[in-house]
Amino acid sequence: MRKNIVAGNWKMNCSLEEGQKLATEVSQLVLDLGQKDAEVILIPPFIHLSKLSEQMQSDGNFYLGAQNCHQNEHGAYTGEVSASMIKSCGGTHIIIGHSERREYFQESDALLAEKINSVLSNDMTPIFCCGERLESREVNTQEAVVGEQIRNALFHLSADQISKIVIAYEPVWAIGTGKTATAQQAQEMHAFIRSSITEKYTNEIANGISILYGGSVKPDNAKEIFSQDDVDGGLIGGASLKARDFMDIVKAFN
Ligand code: PGA
Repeated sequence: MRKNIVAGNWKMNCSLEEGQKLATEVSQLVLDLGQKDAEVILIPPFIHLSKLSEQMQSDGNFYLGAQNCHQNEHGAYTGEVSASMIKSCGGTHIIIGHSERREYFQESDALLAEKINSVLSNDMTPIFCCGERLESREVNTQEAVVGEQIRNALFHLSADQISKIVIAYEPVWAIGTGKTATAQQAQEMHAFIRSSITEKYTNEIANGISILYGGSVKPDNAKEIFSQDDVDGGLIGGASLKARDFMDIVKAFN
């Protein structure tokens, strides 16, 4: 059975002190919730990982992740951080190919494929993001766009490797805009992604992969989106910066 996952992508927000406070609040709320039906992942800026990981050892109820990594293990790449470095600071998951990375940092599918390899070779979990821009949705080419992103960045993987990844469908037009895909639009795309994986690999593999939806998920729309058959949780941006909102989204599974 695939896992339900709710991941909070803090993006470039929170000082260390703010991040520690937010993580403490989330951790407490997760504890209060008791038995939870979704795995919770906090994805702060790199520089907070080590502190939050120490904090987690005492009161943690969540996993930690990073928002990006370099494709190489080490070397003369000023300003970059590798998957193994993230792992050494307590991170277990890494977002690869967020649309903000694709757009502002010109990350190509070929580069993302290399990054995925690096994350997997460190026994960590990539959260691979895909999603179409508004222009594609308007002319109904969203499946062609997402299909290509997935083929280019993931389909070189072995069956065993692809089984270890998480996918996040994030339509670019819904990120940080307050516009959410309808539950039906999310379901259609998630089903399409799953069927593409079935075609290339097997039904069993496709059914084991968690596919998250991202793009303006809020406490008041999470339940409907998460109730769709092929939606296994969310990658949450803005609403992950408020502990209560984030936890209300996690609770959408209970
Ligand atoms: P949002 O961001 O929830 O603020 O729309 C989602 C994301 O970018 O992962």
